Amino acid sequence: MVILLLLLVLPFALAGPPWQVCSNGSKYAPNSAYLENLTLLSSTLPKKAASNATLFATDAVGVAPDTVFAVTLCRGDINASACEGCLSSAFQEGQQLCPYSKDATIYYDTCMLTFSNKNFVDTNVGGPNWNIQRSVLKFTASANSTRQMVSTLINSTAQSAANSSRRFWTSRLDDSSFPTMYCLTQCRPNLTAGDCASCFRSASQMMLQDLDRRVGCRVQGTWCSMRYEANKFFQGDPMLLIAASAAPPEVEKNVQQHSM
Ligand SMILES: *[C@@H]1O[C@H](CO)[C@@H](O)[C@H](O)[C@H]1NC(C)=O
Ligand SMILES: *[C@@H]1O[C@H](CO)[C@@H](O)[C@H](O)[C@H]1NC(C)=O
Ligand SMILES: *[C@@H]1O[C@H](CO)[C@@H](O)[C@H](O)[C@H]1NC(C)=O
Ligand SMILES: *[C@@H]1O[C@H](CO)[C@@H](O)[C@H](O)[C@H]1NC(C)=O
Ligand SMILES: *[C@@H]1O[C@H](CO)[C@@H](O)[C@H](O)[C@H]1NC(C)=O
Ligand SMILES: *[C@@H]1O[C@H](CO)[C@@H](O)[C@H](O)[C@H]1NC(C)=O
Ligand SMILES: *[C@@H]1O[C@H](CO)[C@@H](O)[C@H](O)[C@H]1NC(C)=O
Ligand SMILES: *[C@@H]1O[C@H](CO)[C@@H](O)[C@H](O)[C@H]1NC(C)=O
Repeated sequence: MVILLLLLVLPFALAGPPWQVCSNGSKYAPNSAYLENLTLLSSTLPKKAASNATLFATDAVGVAPDTVFAVTLCRGDINASACEGCLSSAFQEGQQLCPYSKDATIYYDTCMLTFSNKNFVDTNVGGPNWNIQRSVLKFTASANSTRQMVSTLINSTAQSAANSSRRFWTSRLDDSSFPTMYCLTQCRPNLTAGDCASCFRSASQMMLQDLDRRVGCRVQGTWCSMRYEANKFFQGDPMLLIAASAAPPEVEKNVQQHSM
């Protein structure tokens, strides 16, 4: 009974946020310069991100080998105070969830933080620190039509986001023969449109793997994130309305050919 209730409330079940990816490698010592610099960043970056129109901030503090690089980004639909609060929690909980890790990424529903002793800002788009959560609940529609609907939904939304100045877009898909779905896609706002689109391609491949008939999935990365659900989970009106029946049948073939 308790489990059933939990599943209803928490379709992603099992682990809720925050989700962390801790490095296995280098550790800092208690009372070290690294920790001092990290603490300094934790007192400045949440405010910097919250006061940026794109809710994004990066910074680096300290001199090598104790330099700490950090990237913070809030979900594009939340307000500045919610953004600052989310990132402050991420800094605090991050240090508990990844004790003494020099390198960690923390994901919440509405913000993400990554910090490292390496200047990952210049590394390739993508990176290994993905968080993937799949709903355990299923639509009654077939897996094939779920794949076609979800693929149409995430492709259109990702294209709008990559082409927007904030690299952020939300949407709703309406189809007479399928339940309504909502989607949110976001890149780091200073990626080029092309790098953003290429990050979304990796994220959508991960999302479509093991998609089955799931009513929701989220893929969060340090460069881009995407999520769809049958419930409206973001604030404000959807920025894009998609009519799925407009998708030509040839599209479905392409999806299946490219889904490996
Ligand atoms: C840490 O190690 C575990 C198991 O050895 C591995 O699954 C995980 O991917 C590693 N994490 C990183 C960030 O490399
Ligand atoms: C604010 O966001 C822009 C990208 O939208 C970025 O270029 C800039 O560096 C950010 N500001 C700070 C303080 O990080
Ligand atoms: C980083 O921490 C070290 C050790 O406490 C300190 O000497 C240095 O000034 C810090 N860097 C900055 C930019 O505050
Ligand atoms: C910001 O969003 C939070 C959460 O939705 C809400 O509780 C708060 O009232 C909002 N603050 C402002 C200033 O709009
Ligand atoms: C689902 O799509 C695959 C690949 O095109 C096809 O082989 C299969 O017959 C379809 N299944 C149904 C139930 O339509
Ligand atoms: C979605 O995009 C992929 C390429 O990223 C493409 O192969 C596929 O056909 C697209 N699907 C739809 C429904 O537009
Ligand atoms: C991208 O946006 C511009 C206007 O900002 C528009 O002219 C163009 O058609 C859009 N491209 C796509 C692929 O949506
Ligand atoms: C993104 O911003 C960071 C710091 O604000 C900068 O170092 C990096 O080069 C920027 N990336 C792009 C693609 O502009």
